[in-house]
Amino acid sequence: MTEAVLRPHAEHQFADELALLAERDDRPRPPGWRLSPWAVTVYLLGGTLPDGTVVTPKYVGPRRLIEVAVATLATDRALLLLGVPGTAKTWVSEHLAAAVSGDSTLLVQGTAGTAEDTIRYGWNYARLLAEGPSEQALVPSPVMRAMRSGAVARIEELTRMPSDVQDSLITILSEKALPVPELGTEVQARKGFTVIATANDRDRGVNDLSSALRRRFNTIVLPLPATTEEEVDIVARRVAQIGTSLELPETVAGIEEIRRVVTVFRELRSGRTADGRTRLKSPTGTLSTAEAISVITSGRVLATHFGDGVLRPADVAGGIVGAVVQDPVSDRVVWQEYLETVVRERPEWSDFYRACREVL
Ligand SMILES: Nc1ncnc2c1ncn2[C@@H]1O[C@H](COP(=O)(O)OP(=O)(O)OP(=O)(O)O)[C@@H](O)[C@H]1O
Ligand SMILES: [Mg+2]
Repeated sequence: MTEAVLRPHAEHQFADELALLAERDDRPRPPGWRLSPWAVTVYLLGGTLPDGTVVTPKYVGPRRLIEVAVATLATDRALLLLGVPGTAKTWVSEHLAAAVSGDSTLLVQGTAGTAEDTIRYGWNYARLLAEGPSEQALVPSPVMRAMRSGAVARIEELTRMPSDVQDSLITILSEKALPVPELGTEVQARKGFTVIATANDRDRGVNDLSSALRRRFNTIVLPLPATTEEEVDIVARRVAQIGTSLELPETVAGIEEIRRVVTVFRELRSGRTADGRTRLKSPTGTLSTAEAISVITSGRVLATHFGDGVLRPADVAGGIVGAVVQDPVSDRVVWQEYLETVVRERPEWSDFYRACREVL
């Protein structure tokens, strides 16, 4: 079954690793956890077990951040992952839930239209009308299901939800109980229940977290990759994984193209060239690691179906321009300037320069 779905959940995709870790893990596990905090960290950051088993890294970044995140989940506080777009907030939240509870699907997607039911519970109206309020007519939210089973509930884009809906989490997080007044009962969370929420830095101010809610979360800010090499490594890894799941044949000579895309993105993002000598204007788009991954993946598909299977500058030029030029007027100026003052001056980038000129 896993083979046919487009994107298996982490706990299915990495079922073998999780099973092995669970088997080899002899450290104490917090109540309700599938693995010890140590093993959860190994699952996320990768590593070699004492018997030589290799665990692939899922997240590439500061070890301490992940240790603090995992430690938070073992306390009675919830975890908030904050960061600019594309810094793997959703990705880390999915893998943490998979490793801690073996289930990453108890998910609420926050939007401006999210209603309180989505966090608490709703009703099956046919049954409600026929039988009145009953346990059978109640439709539990993912959060309620996580409370009942002692698992991790995930809330995506917490700050996009209206404030009053966010605040319905306060009781859940502080009392660890969810009252159901219609039935005169409550659901008490089993051990192992916790919440991982993600929020986007750029959305800050849309619906700020109330301070009452903020006090119930430990916040971890996921950074952009510190160095070009680290970012190249992340992109190369993810592109390879995505390629495998899309069943793309191997493309050759990808790494140079990846390094170039990452360099362009980092330079434009930071507003200066890698050698620090030239100041640049930044475009409006985010140019995140996630976008670099998708530019390369699209390039690989082009190379596979319309080229000779080798990833070349022409395969990524269109994607790069598309990612940079979000605002057709101001970003185009930024891009032109970058192309003429930076790209053109690098002799080893001449193919790339020509390819970019063609798509403009
Ligand atoms: N440091 C990193 N380590 C591993 N993968 C990363 C890293 N940074 C980004 N990625 C990859 O980037 C992709 C996008 O990440 P994700 O969707 O989790 O970002 P996000 O922070 O939730 O963004 P948004 O704010 O847009 O929701 C994922 O495929 C993830 O693997
Ligand atoms: Mg996300």
